[in-house]
Amino acid sequence: MIPFFDYRPETRRHAEGIRSAVDRVLESGRLILGPEVESFEAEFAAATGVAGAVGVASGTDAIELALRGLGVGAGSEVITVANAGVPPVAAVRAAGARPVLVDIDPATLSIDPQAVATALGPRTACLLIVHLYGFPAALEPLLELAASAGVPVVEDCAQAHGARCNGRPVGSFGTLGCYSFYPTKNLGAYGDGGMIVGNDLALLAKIRRTRVYGWREGTRRSEIEGRNSRLDEIQAAILRVKLPHLEAINTERRALAARFSELLDGAPGNVVASRPGSQPVFHLYVVRCDDRPRWADALDRAGIGHAVHYEDPVHTMPAYASLGLARGSLPHTEAACDSVISLPLYPGIDEQVFERLATALDDL
Ligand SMILES: Cc1ncc(COP(=O)(O)O)c(C=O)c1O
Repeated sequence: MIPFFDYRPETRRHAEGIRSAVDRVLESGRLILGPEVESFEAEFAAATGVAGAVGVASGTDAIELALRGLGVGAGSEVITVANAGVPPVAAVRAAGARPVLVDIDPATLSIDPQAVATALGPRTACLLIVHLYGFPAALEPLLELAASAGVPVVEDCAQAHGARCNGRPVGSFGTLGCYSFYPTKNLGAYGDGGMIVGNDLALLAKIRRTRVYGWREGTRRSEIEGRNSRLDEIQAAILRVKLPHLEAINTERRALAARFSELLDGAPGNVVASRPGSQPVFHLYVVRCDDRPRWADALDRAGIGHAVHYEDPVHTMPAYASLGLARGSLPHTEAACDSVISLPLYPGIDEQVFERLATALDDL
């Protein structure tokens, strides 16, 4: 069986660097928020083309702290999507705000600017744009809408490290960009981690304080309310080893995706489309199909792992019933969630996957 995800092939490639990075931290006597985190923040900011970055404990925390930093909280609304899994919505709730879930463009499965235009209102405090599956969303119209409404944009780049729009990295367009380093991500740690990036250094300094209870530097005295969300030294040191390889990792992902697309040409499924001018990084290779159980059976028989991103639109989940969106209220989102299936795609994947996929497609 070719697993849906396996970090080991990539780990083997960088084994020496990773081991010496871990040793360096163990020898340093410092495990939390130290020089490795500081250096990684600077290196990640440079790679993203922004002025600064703040390391935190996860991608979900990154979004929550970004929103809090922007003053988004109780009584305000954040516009986002329901087909990107729970994390963006959970982060909005954790910040105390109300998620306003809008429909997607059925061609790209990204947030629909038209739906955003309709949803913008007096309580809108932020537009949270998810670059889903590693595909940049429709940034141009979305930034324009947000600017004319005077609303800040937070980019959720958890699935899009290194993706670009007209040559510029995602995460550098909004007021803030948020990343996850969960192990499956294009830039994955060996545990949890997250990052907030941006160009407003005063805002980033405030967010940096909120990751440790809002303490004034060098004291344990909270000047603003905060919480505990820290990136650790071992994860930062490992990520520093992997960051210089991000472009190569993404190039490899694109090449794998191109081979999948070649095989799928003419198959009874269609692939999620990328927008003109955008350079996706294929965090996931997502196919839309009419009969998902049939695809799942064919992939099982061919020995290929698969997954669904994401099966349940967030507004249909019991935890979010209070948002008051009945099934049927986001038709494109619901149709997408009913029809998507993800193929395994990661650096160093077993080359047999192509032969097996051809077999699975014949078997459909
Ligand atoms: C789109 C999106 N946003 C946010 C997150 C949250 O990241 P984390 O799992 O590091 O909290 C994830 C990852 O799960 C994600 O896929």
